[in-house]
Amino acid sequence: MEESLYRAGLDYYDLYLIHWPNPKENLYVEAWQAMIEAKKRGLVRSIGVCNFLPHHLERIIRETGVTPSVDQVELYPFFNQAEQRKWNREHGIVTESWSPLGRANSILQNETIAAIAKAHRKTITQIVLRWHVQLGAVPIPKATSKAHQIENLNIFDFALTDAEMEKINALTRPNGRTANQDPDIYEEF
Ligand SMILES: NC(=O)c1ccc[n+]([C@@H]2O[C@H](COP(=O)([O-])OP(=O)(O)OC[C@H]3O[C@@H](n4cnc5c(N)ncnc54)[C@H](OP(=O)(O)O)[C@@H]3O)[C@@H](O)[C@H]2O)c1
Repeated sequence: MEESLYRAGLDYYDLYLIHWPNPKENLYVEAWQAMIEAKKRGLVRSIGVCNFLPHHLERIIRETGVTPSVDQVELYPFFNQAEQRKWNREHGIVTESWSPLGRANSILQNETIAAIAKAHRKTITQIVLRWHVQLGAVPIPKATSKAHQIENLNIFDFALTDAEMEKINALTRPNGRTANQDPDIYEEF
């Protein structure tokens, strides 16, 4: 990590995350121990994980005594991660939402969300991002277009009602992942 900080021209990282548990490699506890050590040495302020399910989190917490600050997981209206969010909340872990717009899939044409967008004079994207915020999750949308970036920031001047939140929550699907990346099976390096 010292070398990557040197290349980045930084003294420390604000947040550093493990990308996937990669369970077949069975090295995520060792990776977590290295992150703890990096934090102790002042190389990083906060440490967290991505794509860790409750049993992965339980294991690293049990074996090291250190709870991640953040768990970044796939989360958007077709895959709303209610159980994972509840588990994270109960353990003081912030849930971050990756692909929060479902990688711009058919969610951006969804009629239920379109009706809510019309009522608030907002775009579907703004409704989806506002829904994340009201769930207590932190969405990290990617937008290469400047217009999209401005649109995506403009979500703090209105609020969804409980009924609207429930309508969006009801869109979730058991197989709603965008690319079938189950952290118990899928591996990425
Ligand atoms: N931890 C992990 O395992 C993991 C896995 C996947 C992704 N991620 C991270 O999650 C972040 C976002 O994920 P993602 O890029 O996969 O999906 P995403 O943010 O859900 O979708 C990105 C797509 O949405 C479009 N978009 C953005 N704002 C829009 C708007 N206002 N109106 C219409 N379309 C809009 C973008 O278009 P334009 O580019 O044309 O603006 C782009 O095509 C990235 O930083 C990525 O690195 C993490």
